[in-house]
Amino acid sequence: MINIKTSREIELMKIAGAIVGETHKYLIPYIRPGITTKELDNIAYNFIISKHATPSFKGYDGYPGSICTSINEEVVHGIPSNRKLKEGDIISIDIGACYKGYHGDSAWTYKVGKVSKDCEYLMEHTEKALFIGLNQVKEGTRIGDIGNAIENYAKEHKLGVVKELVGHGIGSNLHEMPDVPNYGKRGTGPILKEGMVIAIEPMLNLGTANIYLLDDDWTIITADNKPSAHFEHTVLVLKDGFEILTKR
Ligand code: CO
Repeated sequence: MINIKTSREIELMKIAGAIVGETHKYLIPYIRPGITTKELDNIAYNFIISKHATPSFKGYDGYPGSICTSINEEVVHGIPSNRKLKEGDIISIDIGACYKGYHGDSAWTYKVGKVSKDCEYLMEHTEKALFIGLNQVKEGTRIGDIGNAIENYAKEHKLGVVKELVGHGIGSNLHEMPDVPNYGKRGTGPILKEGMVIAIEPMLNLGTANIYLLDDDWTIITADNKPSAHFEHTVLVLKDGFEILTKR
C-alpha cells in the first residue's frame, strides 16, 4: 500500500523538507579541509533542533549519528567520527529531519577544496542522474520508468549503478512503500499518484557497481575503492509533474 498524503501531511512534509534543505545550505561553509565529520554532525544536529525538528537517522536501527558522512569510496551510511576532511576528498552528506512526525530526506555530494577531474565528472553526472529521475515524476509514471531513466543515463556515462540500496516512499516513516530502485524496466512497477511522496537517490560509482559493508556494520564502500557519489531529493507527486520538498 502506497499512501496518499493529506493536505495537512503535505504541509508538514514541506516544512520537514525545507529544514533538510536549509541544513545542507548551513553546512556548506563548514565543508573544508581540517573539519571532522563528527563536527559536521554536531553542527547539523544543533541546526535541526533549532528548527524544532529532530534528526530522522539518529537511533534509526541503532544508527549513532544525526547525519551520514560518506567520504570518497564510501557510498552511504558513513558514521561521523574524528576523521578530518582533506583537500581533494568528496563527501556525501545525507540528512533527514522529522517535523511534527513527518520526514524529509536529502543527500548531496560536496567537494573538499579542489578535487580530481574524475571526481568532478562523477559528481556532475550523479546530480544529473537525480534530475533525470525526478523529471519522470508525475501522476501515471511507473517506478520502473524512474529507475530505467537513471540506469540508462548512468550507463551512457560509464558509471556503476549501486543496486542493493534504493530510494523509497517517505512520510510519517522515513522508509515507506514503494522501493524506488535506480534501475528497472519502463512500464513496470507501482504507478505514481498525485499526493504520494518519494525519495529518489541515485548512488553512482566511478568504477564497479559492487559494494560491501565495513565491520562497523553501517559504512558501505565500493568493492574497488573508487569514489562514489549520492544525490537525493524528497519529492511530492503532482498531476503533471513534481515538487521538490528538500530544495536547497
Ligand atoms: Co533516503
